[in-house]
Amino acid sequence: MSPDSNDPYRVLFVCLGNICRSPLAEGVFRHLVQEAGLDHAYEADSAGTGAWHAGEDPDPRSQAVAGKHGVSLQGPARKVEMDDFSNFDLILAMDQDNRRNLEELGSRAPGHAQLRLLRDFDPEAQSGAEVPDPYYGGPDGFDQAYELVRRSCEHLLHELEDGGLSGE
Ligand code: 4NP
Repeated sequence: MSPDSNDPYRVLFVCLGNICRSPLAEGVFRHLVQEAGLDHAYEADSAGTGAWHAGEDPDPRSQAVAGKHGVSLQGPARKVEMDDFSNFDLILAMDQDNRRNLEELGSRAPGHAQLRLLRDFDPEAQSGAEVPDPYYGGPDGFDQAYELVRRSCEHLLHELEDGGLSGE
């Protein structure tokens, strides 16, 4: 599937708990898509490689930083599943651990989804850069996560609109 087809292009954002980084990335991506008038063309969701927080709303600290920027977040948290590899076109991991876990799951799952790090789309990032886990830190970590996610999602959307990702 590509952004040119009639089906929406489906993007899944993945972190560990699905309460801090990936719901933030999902919310920011949805917001950018809506701002650009492209709701018909994209769908976004998020999930965690772990299930500890399944069913919970996004962390209040992620909701607070999102709210400061006019972005609303959606829950509830869920664990990533095999079907995600066939239901999504692009799966974006927040860090290397998430990507390794997704690679392992994806090796056993049929499906066409392309797996990348979100910060592959951050023009200011070195190769392999991560969105650091802010869960155990202070509010600064959430501000930083927002900035990294925002910049990456802006460039991701530009790249998709410019004709899709290489490797598709
Ligand atoms: P997230 O952050 O992966 O960005 O949702 C975390 C949330 C919870 C935990 C770790 C990271 N935890 O250990 O419970």
